[in-house]
Amino acid sequence: MGRLQDKVAIITGSGAGIGKEVAIAYAREGAKVVIADFNETTLNETVAELKASGHEALGVKVDVSVNEDVERMVDESIKAFGKVDILVNNAGVGDNMQAAANVQDDTWNRILSINLNGVMYGLRKIIPHFMENGGGTIVNMASITGLTGGRGGLGYTAVKHAVVGMTKNVASQYGPHNIRCNAIAPGHIQTEFAASMTNIDEFGMKASIRATNLIPRAGTVEDIANITLFLGSDESSYVNGVALAADGGWSAY
Ligand SMILES: NC(=O)c1ccc[n+]([C@@H]2O[C@H](COP(=O)([O-])OP(=O)(O)OC[C@H]3O[C@@H](n4cnc5c(N)ncnc54)[C@H](O)[C@@H]3O)[C@@H](O)[C@H]2O)c1
Repeated sequence: MGRLQDKVAIITGSGAGIGKEVAIAYAREGAKVVIADFNETTLNETVAELKASGHEALGVKVDVSVNEDVERMVDESIKAFGKVDILVNNAGVGDNMQAAANVQDDTWNRILSINLNGVMYGLRKIIPHFMENGGGTIVNMASITGLTGGRGGLGYTAVKHAVVGMTKNVASQYGPHNIRCNAIAPGHIQTEFAASMTNIDEFGMKASIRATNLIPRAGTVEDIANITLFLGSDESSYVNGVALAADGGWSAY
């Protein structure tokens, strides 16, 4: 019996990186998984890989910054599997490390629409379904920039703090309805995330990587998938409203 046997989980941004590894870990533990991503190629590849390994998976092309897409993602998941038990709000992009004096409006608006609005759309849509179903679990992929001040650009730091705030708000207000909402705050994890940033702000970058010599090693997608598995499963049933740092101790300094 898997740790997520017969659970249905939606994982946004699961065509690659951390989200993909979470989907694989969830499927291995018996969950039916919904691969939700705006990159159709990697989305289809991930669904095909999961199915080839004998898992149940549904692919939904979604841009989390578009409310209608997020609503359709949840509706299609319920239609396919009858219910949703877990939502992992993982999709996110970087802000090119833009420090306050160098913030560009289009980067600022993009980071807010994907990393902030996208999470809110997911929460707003899934909570009524969880209430109707007797409960559910949400895991938000925040960042260590959501718990500390100087480890990323201004916009990224702002939205990840907001994700931590939303996590606590939902946990405190919906905990009595058997809904849990926790966040993970990864440090530096090896994915294509950094590579997807262009025109990096030199000042912001230099300031953000101070004290990185204190990180014993970069994190792996498995490191984060393991925590997401714990927070998504009933093993963490008494944990609600936390933002768990997973940064090799970087922020402990
Ligand atoms: N990699 C790190 O060092 C790190 C550290 C802290 C937090 N995080 C957070 O972890 C999450 C995942 O990051 P990652 O490192 O796996 O990144 P990644 O770039 O490897 O993967 C992100 C995935 O999200 C998808 N995506 C991006 N925008 C989307 C949108 N609008 N709608 C739907 N899908 C979208 C991409 O297509 C991609 O498949 C993000 O929220 C990121 O902020 C990452």
